[in-house]
Amino acid sequence: MPKLIIDDIPVEVGNGVSVLEAAQSVGIPIPHFCWHPALGKAGACRVCAVKMLDGPVKGLQMSCMLPAQDGMVVSTTDEEAMAMRRHVIEWLMINHPHDCPVCDEGGECQLQDFTIAGGHGLRRYTGRKRTHINQYLGPYIEHEMNRCIQCYRCARFYQEFAGGTDFGVMGSAGRVYFGRFEEGQLASPFSGNLADICPTGVFTDKTARFRARYWDYDMAPSVCPHCSLGCNTTPAARYRELLKTMGRKNDAINGWFICDKGRFSNAIVNDPNRPRHPLVDCRKVDWDEAMDALLPRIAEIGELYDPGSLAIVGSPHLSMEAAVLLPVLASCAAAGSLCYFMDEHEAERTRASVSYLSEGRAASMADVRAADLIAVVGCDLMEEGPMMALAIRQAWRNGARVYVVANEPNSPLEREGAGLPFDYSSVSTLDDVPLLEAQKPVIISSSSSFSPWNREAVENLPTSAPAAIPHASPFFNGKHKMVCLLNGPNAFGTALLSGMHDAISFSEAVTKGKVKGVIAVEADIPPELLHGIPVVAALDWRNTGVTRAARIFLPTTAWVEMDGTYINNEGRAQRFRKVMNPGLPIKGLDPAGHPPRVHSATPPGGDPRPAWQVVAKVIERLGGDRIVEPFSGEWEKLREIDAEASGILICRKKQ
Ligand code: FES
Repeated sequence: MPKLIIDDIPVEVGNGVSVLEAAQSVGIPIPHFCWHPALGKAGACRVCAVKMLDGPVKGLQMSCMLPAQDGMVVSTTDEEAMAMRRHVIEWLMINHPHDCPVCDEGGECQLQDFTIAGGHGLRRYTGRKRTHINQYLGPYIEHEMNRCIQCYRCARFYQEFAGGTDFGVMGSAGRVYFGRFEEGQLASPFSGNLADICPTGVFTDKTARFRARYWDYDMAPSVCPHCSLGCNTTPAARYRELLKTMGRKNDAINGWFICDKGRFSNAIVNDPNRPRHPLVDCRKVDWDEAMDALLPRIAEIGELYDPGSLAIVGSPHLSMEAAVLLPVLASCAAAGSLCYFMDEHEAERTRASVSYLSEGRAASMADVRAADLIAVVGCDLMEEGPMMALAIRQAWRNGARVYVVANEPNSPLEREGAGLPFDYSSVSTLDDVPLLEAQKPVIISSSSSFSPWNREAVENLPTSAPAAIPHASPFFNGKHKMVCLLNGPNAFGTALLSGMHDAISFSEAVTKGKVKGVIAVEADIPPELLHGIPVVAALDWRNTGVTRAARIFLPTTAWVEMDGTYINNEGRAQRFRKVMNPGLPIKGLDPAGHPPRVHSATPPGGDPRPAWQVVAKVIERLGGDRIVEPFSGEWEKLREIDAEASGILICRKKQ
């Protein structure tokens, strides 16, 4: 453990840590552009200069390139180091267009910050600037090459970190160009990270272009709801419109990055056609009237049919706060069926996977990145969890062997094989994977892809074996960890609840013929299952077939409009915070651009409430207790989760 002195502060760091990181660890910032914690060093920008006063290395040095060593005495404020940084920044800025007032990066620009911090504030160069032609890179990323300072972060991320091949760096004489060989949409499913990783405004989020400055945004720590991995995000909103989503660091899960699916799916929140008012028989009403109408409709089902003909149907998309209240609602409404999953097989597989993972074998994405052997079994990575593919790539880059078990000619992995960002060996069964040779093997499977070839294998397993792992028993050597990609951001939590409360799938409930009415809570019920069954009430924030069929509709908030909790596929409970108030985006209110001239306690379209609060209100109206805190009993531990921390594992972890 090297011990050194930086600006008179003694520092002790781990082996291999750079002087730049050592300085950061004690709160001393050193300007840097090309160095990034996820990408490492490149030595390209030369702006991180420090003066080595004593020890094994002397003189001006690039702090990102130099490993901390015993006895080093470092000065970041030495006049020679400061002059070097000032001159380098001046030189980097020579061709920069100085267009901060019209640049989307303005206010969140590392180049702005370090230019000022580096001491360069006066432009002396009077010559012509070198200019470039920008490229169309698709609908998501804006390109402005003149702002480039050649730090190479974009090319290093895109090619090395993410495995993209259609973007890179080209050069001719004194011109260096970062882009595609020819214009066209970026092919990588991780291309949006260019906007986060570029330290200046070469790559910006086109979907939020010219809409706000950094200080205008409403932001809060959040969790991506678009798959089960639980990647951490920072959504940014303004004027009740979700404008953009950025990656947020969580070392246990997504690291620094997110996929494009999670980044560019904001339109559904802003949809002007999103249902935002309580409705009774398609008539706009207030909350009280909707609640008044709901109670007799629930009673009516019990009177017309057998007791227990009502089904309470939730989904793995529900926050944990709402999901834990559904059993209480089912009890108060005397419902005969409680459902969290639509399909019987998916419910079984998810419960079996969660039960197995809960025994301490769940791998985090950090475990995947550190694995030395990975077997991918029967899942469509790019569809079910793209960031898992990126995690596998990092393991592969570090020398891990990757096997894809796909003996079905038309399996998703066979189809997309060339699109996976890592090389792999294709094998027919898990028996062909040398799991026992590895020290840190991880098996990655899925609860939703369940093709006939592994169905047979699973059905032949003893009932105690994990259903998600075909041919699993020979490999239970205690070393391997398991990932199961689930279907929904809170599939893990709803599977646990499903087991605790003897919930059944909605398809099973319908098959039994007892369901004569449904209360759907953010549930996507397929039309074929709803045939002839009235939707007594639907709680949702989206416009779906179920909400359109509902006799009573109660609008709920999207994840960015409330505080909530999801449990990801590893069993990690994470809190997400409210980013914005619900309401029609001001931009979409009126073609003339002015909000309606009416007085109201809520903004236009501001009726939606968090699903758990609506469920709690219905419970209270049905005679149940007043609920002010959804987590009680064994779920009380979820109350204290810090949204800025890395979440808490709700099941034990086996070492
Ligand atoms: Fe050290 Fe760029 S950050 S050379």
